[in-house]
Amino acid sequence: MKVKAIILSAGKGTRFKSEKPKVLHEILGKPMLFYVKTSAQWINPDEIIFVVGHKKEQVKQYISCDRCTIVEQDNQLGTGHAVQITLPHWKDFDGFLIILNGDTPLIKGQTLKDALEYAKAMLLYEGANMNSYSSEYKNEKFAGVVLTAKVPNPYGYGRIIKDENGKVIKIVEEKDASLEEKRINEVNSGIYIFYAPFLKEVINRLDNKNAQNEYYLTDVITLLKEEGKEIYALEIPDYTEILGVNDRWQLAYVENILKMQYLQFWALNGTTFHNPESIWVEFDVEFSKDVEVFQNCVFKGNTKIGENTVIEPNCIIKNSKIGKNVKILANSVIEDSVIEDGAVVGPFARLRQKTVIKQNAVIGNFVEVKKSTIGENTNARHLTYIGDATVGKDVNIGAGTITCNYDGFKKYQTIIKDKAFIGSDTMLVAPITIGEEAMTASGSVITKDVPPKALAIERAPLKIIENYVEKRRKKFKNNE
Ligand code: UD1
Ligand code: CA
Repeated sequence: MKVKAIILSAGKGTRFKSEKPKVLHEILGKPMLFYVKTSAQWINPDEIIFVVGHKKEQVKQYISCDRCTIVEQDNQLGTGHAVQITLPHWKDFDGFLIILNGDTPLIKGQTLKDALEYAKAMLLYEGANMNSYSSEYKNEKFAGVVLTAKVPNPYGYGRIIKDENGKVIKIVEEKDASLEEKRINEVNSGIYIFYAPFLKEVINRLDNKNAQNEYYLTDVITLLKEEGKEIYALEIPDYTEILGVNDRWQLAYVENILKMQYLQFWALNGTTFHNPESIWVEFDVEFSKDVEVFQNCVFKGNTKIGENTVIEPNCIIKNSKIGKNVKILANSVIEDSVIEDGAVVGPFARLRQKTVIKQNAVIGNFVEVKKSTIGENTNARHLTYIGDATVGKDVNIGAGTITCNYDGFKKYQTIIKDKAFIGSDTMLVAPITIGEEAMTASGSVITKDVPPKALAIERAPLKIIENYVEKRRKKFKNNE
């Protein structure tokens, strides 16, 4: 049986009070529409038709996929109207149309697949072999399935009105519902499967005589019923899958649900999370076995955490690859960087812009590293800035060392070769190269390249003034 999907995403999202189209608001780092699209792709439809309208140029940028079509709805006259204008794409289509709302991001691809199997079975005569579908077996009454769920608070959703056999008679919108109808807690998910030839017969007969003066897609149920057709309700056991996102508070609610689902997935794959409610994880983040994550950590973008790595509280890791057996100590911020196996970073470290920390290196407290490579077993344990530098293996960088990489106009490179020893509080004025096993004396401002094994020292001679305190006291007294 052939399938086409239609994703309704033209609405203004008035309740978001936003300049940005509703379906582009992000959930765990991806636009809401991405999730709906991904679930639709799961069923491998022949075509996915996106209805766009409000700020359509922005929305279109996010729709580029195989077999995807865009239909523009210039005036958003309702969900029924949105489907009407897609008709040219399925008027001769002998298959199922699966219609999805762009603002229902938690629906799972597998749920759609199961619903489609259910619809297929309903379309065929009882006992017919589903794999050998032919038009002879068609159940002439079956027009489609509405996905529903029983929700704790049905406010805002269309209510499902059924007959005694459990078939759907109609769907009543919140604003049109009587008090009695409002008490029904089985609601319309906004996801439907229709047999296209039957939907075609009624889709252009919708009117907008309702509380919102909109063409409601939900009214096709009544029209199909009048034609003697049958619509079934398929209740989804987990109601969270059908939660609609109409405002930013619902966005936050749905985002939290999805976040906990991801953390649960990674936990079941071998990662320990301490106080998962406090941990944030985006869509493209991957954990490995025996990773341990403490409170208040944030994982963003394309981030991978290797086996046996420990991440202490309050760390932010974005677009970074962390190796195995790494320790990221508390309060560290890591962006666009790579940390190799066995390295130790933090507490209070900041790594950014393509920094690479090689195996077993130690980057300690209050150390910032930007656009630099730090070699194997190298230590920079305290209070240091390393920018635009290439640091070799087994180097020791003393506390307070700074690469002076910027002269107000340009950035310059610092190269520190293997086994060099940089004394505390060294200023390395770039461009500069410190040779292998070379040393710098603490407190020196180094402005020339240092050859291998040499010592660079830049210091005014030290003066000791004996009895200085007494002399000073006298001086002040005389002046009084
Ligand atoms: C809709 C359903 C309601 C259901 C709920 C589930 C109708 C009339 N009501 O209500 O029964 O319980 O979804 O979440 O269908 N859209 C367009 N063009 C339009 C209008 C809307 O593309 O002219 C899109 C929106 O961008 C949105 C979707 O259709 O993605 C649903 O529209 P929305 O206004 O959010 O409908 P609800 O009031 O939530
Ligand atoms: Ca909605």
